Order: sequence, then structure tokens, then C-alpha cells
Amino acid sequence: MFKLKISHFIVVIFCIAACTKQTVLVKNVEKSITAKQEKIKSLLAKMTLEEKCGQLNFVVGEILTGPALQEAKSSVDLENQIRKGQITGVFNTNGAKNIQHLQEIAVKQSRLGIPLLIGADIIHGYKTVTPVPLGEAASWDLAAIEKSAALTAAECAATGINLTFAPMVDIARDARWGRVVEGSGEDPYLVSAIAAAKVRGYQGKNLAADNTIAACVKHFVGYGAAESGRDYNTVDMSERRLREVYLPPFKAAVDAGAATFMNSFNELDGMPATGNTLMVNQILRKEWQFKGLVMSDWASIQEMLAHGVAADRNEAGALAMNAGCDMDMMSFIYIKELPELVKQGKVNIKLVDDAVRRTLTLKYDLGLFDNPFQYGNPATEAKVILSKENRATALDIARKSIVLLQNEKNILPLSKSVKNIALIGPLAENKVEHNGCWAFFGEGKDVVSVAEGIKNKVGASANIMVAQGCDFYNNDNSGFDEAIKVAQKADIVILAVGESAVMSGEGASRSDIRLPAAQESLVKAIMAMGKPMVICAFHGRPLDLSFLENQSPSVLACWSLGSETGNAVADLLFGDYNPSGRLPMSFPRSVGQLPIYYNQKSTGRFYQGNYNEPPSERVYQSRYRDVKNTPLFPFGYGLSYTTFKYSEVSFDKTEMTQNDTVTASVTITNTGKRDGEEVVQFYIRDMVSSVTRPVKELKGFQKVFLKSGESKTISFKIDNETLSFYRKDMTWGSEKGAFTAFIGAHAETTNGKTFLLK
Ligand code: NOJ
Repeated sequence: MFKLKISHFIVVIFCIAACTKQTVLVKNVEKSITAKQEKIKSLLAKMTLEEKCGQLNFVVGEILTGPALQEAKSSVDLENQIRKGQITGVFNTNGAKNIQHLQEIAVKQSRLGIPLLIGADIIHGYKTVTPVPLGEAASWDLAAIEKSAALTAAECAATGINLTFAPMVDIARDARWGRVVEGSGEDPYLVSAIAAAKVRGYQGKNLAADNTIAACVKHFVGYGAAESGRDYNTVDMSERRLREVYLPPFKAAVDAGAATFMNSFNELDGMPATGNTLMVNQILRKEWQFKGLVMSDWASIQEMLAHGVAADRNEAGALAMNAGCDMDMMSFIYIKELPELVKQGKVNIKLVDDAVRRTLTLKYDLGLFDNPFQYGNPATEAKVILSKENRATALDIARKSIVLLQNEKNILPLSKSVKNIALIGPLAENKVEHNGCWAFFGEGKDVVSVAEGIKNKVGASANIMVAQGCDFYNNDNSGFDEAIKVAQKADIVILAVGESAVMSGEGASRSDIRLPAAQESLVKAIMAMGKPMVICAFHGRPLDLSFLENQSPSVLACWSLGSETGNAVADLLFGDYNPSGRLPMSFPRSVGQLPIYYNQKSTGRFYQGNYNEPPSERVYQSRYRDVKNTPLFPFGYGLSYTTFKYSEVSFDKTEMTQNDTVTASVTITNTGKRDGEEVVQFYIRDMVSSVTRPVKELKGFQKVFLKSGESKTISFKIDNETLSFYRKDMTWGSEKGAFTAFIGAHAETTNGKTFLLK
């Protein structure tokens, strides 16, 4: 007979309790959704057309980050317009007190009391500055990147900022483009994973919490493909490339729950992104079901006149509104011209209502209606900004971002008992340049310089001699003599060279990406002395470092590392941290190779040679006559103070169907004397398909820690999705046939093994 045991009762009671809890939760969620809808509906019903347009007008505060339009800036009277309900939010303004003041005007003195969005370009840290995004991408450490974004969010929120114009998720394959620094590099898989991590970091689990802020994913879309790497330049590409390469990071950000998007400046297939209904209405909203807010970039509605697709501001405004651009940043067309466009029937009021609804929803989700002053609390600001914990987080990600490019003679790590150190270069003692671009709230005084970092580490025992040698902007070599003099006295020479902050970032394209001005000559002059030497290069983009090929200095690619620069660099130099960064973008041999990226197509004449034959040989193959096709340092590359050995790739089986999987594995061994981390990278090649496919595509990676002598087997599961692409008819799916799987240390790994999709 069936006997009921006490444990059965417990299970039943537990189930009932769980179900009741679940029902209560669902009911609560439903209740809060209804409350939100009710609130927004009732507000919309009360709003005049002018007030609605005011909710779509986003205005800069003190820090101009674009051209100051005459008709715009001169006619802004911030406080008065907030009072009149003509401004939805202010961006790039500063300080809890000031922000509280503006918020107070909006909430207490405007007719409807709608709180303000407070936006800012906090791209890599507010006061605690973390490495530039391209640097953080080199960590290949999603948890660390998410933590860094959360740090930024907490500092922003404490000061009153509730929306950051980040993450920038544009794929970038041309290092001439200054904005490569703001993104996460050249690869759709890596950039997508980082995009999602950053959205999670900024927004947390609850947008309404007082330490989270809204993300703004930008720039939608194609901006990174500007012709010849010149900022704002024309973009034209196939829908296939757009969908395969440029769109995935945006989709990943949507899936991660990003609250807002920003249009890009560029045209795409003849239509500026801000007026591009296919991109926003069709792809973003309809295909991807994005429910959030889309804003223009700085004056990008107005710029449709210059693009030549709108004859006047009215046409530009109608074009943008009809293309799904909800909010106008700095064109002032939605506040000035939009009301009339609606009255004349050129813009449907339903579109305006939808845009306002999305704006109010964002404000609601941020918790602004409940407590408009939760962001910008001077007491929290004092506690959070530059806190010990934040500096520790910044140090951690800074160390992880540095990539060891060259160490042939094992000069690194340096011994802590070294007696005489020469530290040379314009970035040796400088502080503020290490914050990099887009760090306008970060202050030089809060940066640990390279000199200070080295002093913190070995200052008590070593004699540290510093010489600037030259600066960033001219060819003046009058400081070389002094630099050579200190180098002569040294046991080890450390060079701190590279770009200043403004040399990368918006509007900072360069046609020559070598070390700027006199610095290459400085490095060559010191190199000629034949002393043991380490080059710490700081930069916002991949540089052309080909002059160092076959030379003996050890080289660290350091990007711009922010507040903890010196401590991070010193930890790597003296072996307290074993380098684990890997390049998120190929470093070219010459600017003439650009754009250069590992996931290129084969072409019909793929160069098969070893570059030893004279240029007159193999003429009819896709190659340069004066330089190899390959980059100087490939995507995914980076050394460690230890060494790793990879086994061949093995499979659990060599055939799969669309409904099952194959697992590819390697065994990796730490063959050196130190413990260390390796980024194990998994690439796939589709051997034959209905359309051409890249020679390799990253499909997974794992950052693995291995003790000296330790081995681990690392596996990647391959399913139908891994093998899918946009087929000839543009449907998404796989095609049967052979695939090659590679698992290695960078994109040039050759240990491929083939399996079949049947
Ligand atoms: C223009 C830039 O393209 C964008 O990234 C930035 O967020 C806005 N200006 C606001 O500063």
C-alpha cells in the first residue's frame, strides 16, 4: 500500500508555497507594469504638443562634444527651458549639486514635474578612470569588463548621471579611424560578448537602483566602416556584411536588455543612419523587437542637410521622426520645427506619442518618478568616487589589459634588485594623458604616473633617472642628449612612449599610425645603444610598430590605462602580474595594409607563398609587392612570462547533424616556470558554402589559469548555431559539408582539424 511519508508532506507544502510565491510575484510584476502604463498614459494625456516635443529635446550642459551650432547654443537658456518643459534632459554636465539643482527645477517648477535624464559620455570611468575600451577588450575577461562598467555606473549614479553614452560597439578594422579606441576591436564575436557584458555592468539587474544607470548603445550603425578610416566618412557595404559583421554586437546589446540606442553619423547605402528607416524601424524595432529609446547623435538630424538628403530643417526633422529617431540631440529641430510638422500633417502625432512614451518609460524605469533625487547624492558621491575598492577594480582591469608583444631575450620581468633604471619618454611622468580620450571628468592628479608606479615598486632600492626626451607634437630632438645620458648610466632602460589623449577618439583619424612626431627617432637612438630595454607603448589604436621587428627590446602594448596606470605597468614590469592580455585588433606592418582583419575572405587568388620569393614571382596572387599580407601582430595575440603548448585538436566524433553537436578539444600545458593565464581561442572555417565565408571566425574563447607544469583540456561545443550564417538567399542557417576547427593562442593558429555536418 502507498504510504505517505513526512517528507512527502514537506515536498507538497514546499510546492504550494513556491507556487503561491510565484503567483504573488507574477501579480506584483503585472501590477507594476499597469502602474507604469497608467502613469505614462495619464501624463501623455495632460501634455501639450509643445511639451511632448520638449520631451524629445536633449541638450548639452557645459562640456561641448560637437560643433556648437549657432542657432542652437545661442538660444539655449537651460534653466528657463527646463522650467517651460522644453528639455527632456541635459548631458555632459557635472557634479551632484549642480545636477540636483537642475532636477529640482524640472520636478518642482515645470508644469508637469517630469524629471530630467542626465546623460554623459562616461566611456571608461567617471573619476576613477579605467582603461580605454579597446584596452579593456584586450583583457578578454568578461567578468572584469562587467565589473569595470558597474564601477563607472556607481560613480555616475552617485554624481547624478543616470544615462551613459556607452557602450560603443562599432566593429573597427581600420586603425586610422580614431574611434577604434572607443570600441572593442575587429571581431563580431568578441565585440558582441563585451557589448552584453557592459550593458549588464551599467544597468545591473535593476535599472531603478541607485547605483545603476541606463546604457546607450552606439553608433547605430556601420560607423566603424568609414572609408579610409576618416571620421564621419561615407559607408557603403552589402547587407550581408552588415548583418554578419557590423550588426551582431548591437543585437547582443539588445538581448542583454540595453535601454537606449544612438544613431550614427554616417550614411549607409545612400541614407544617413539618422534617417534610415530600414535600420531602426525594420531591423532594430521589428526584427529585434527593441522597445527602448533611440536618440540621434550630436546634430545628426541637422546634418542630413549637409548629407544632401534634406533641403531644410523641416525635411530633416520629418525624415528622422519617420525613421524612428525618438530624440534629438543638439539639432533643436524637434523643439523648434516638430510641432509645426505635426500640425501640417507631415509627421503623424502617433510617432511623437510613441517617442514620448519611450522617453517617459525610460525615466520611469530609472526610478526617476519615484525619487528624482536618488541619483546625485553628495554624501554617496563623497564615499564612492575614487574609493579604494574602485581603484582596486581599475588596477585589476588595467593589468589585464596590457599585452606583451615582444620579449625575445626575456628581459621581462625585471628583477626587483635592479640598481639603475632610466625611464624615458613623454609619458614617463605625465599623468593626464594616461586617462586617454573621453575622460573629461578624470583628473590628472588622480593618475598614478609610470614614474610613480615604478617608484612605488622599487623606489626604495633603485636609482630611477627620468628624462622626457621629446614631446608628442613636434620633431624637436633637443632632449635626446639628456635621454641618452641617463640611458648610459642605467642597467635597464624603460621607454614610456605613444599617443597623447587627443590623438585618438572622435575626429582623431590619423593617416600615419607610427609613434607620433619625434618618438620613433628617440626610441631608435636609445635602441642603438644596445642596452637592455623595455618599451611601454601607450595608445588608443593599434600602432605601426614595424620598426621594432627583429629588434631586441621587450614591448608592452599598454593602451591608455587610466587612474592606475603606473601601478599596473610596474606590476607587469617587475613580474607581480604575469601578462594575460591579447590583442582585440590586428597590429599592421604598415598603414598601407589597412583595413586589416583576420576574418578576411580567401579570394580566388589567396597568397600561398612564404614571402621569400622575389616580388616578380607569384605576381598573380593577392599580395603586396612591398610588405607581407599578414599583420605584425595578429588578432588574439599576446605573450606571457610563461609558455603554453597546445595539443592537436580532437573531436568526440567527426560527424554531426543539424540536431546534435560535436565537441572540439585541446589539451594545453603550461610549459614554463611561472603560473599564468592563457586565452584559448576557438575558430571555425566553413570549407565550401553557397556564398564565400571568412578564412576563420572566432566562435568561442576561455581564459584559463594554469600553474607551472599543469595541463588542462579545454572543450568547445559546436552546434548548428555555431555553423550558421546568412546563406545565399539571406536566410540564417547552416549548410552541410566540411568545417575546420582551430583552437589556439591567436588567429594565425594552424592546428585545424576537419569534421562534417551531415
Ligand atoms: C558625438 C559622438 O559621436 C557620440 O559618441 C557622443 O556620445 C555624442 N557626441 C555626445 O557627446
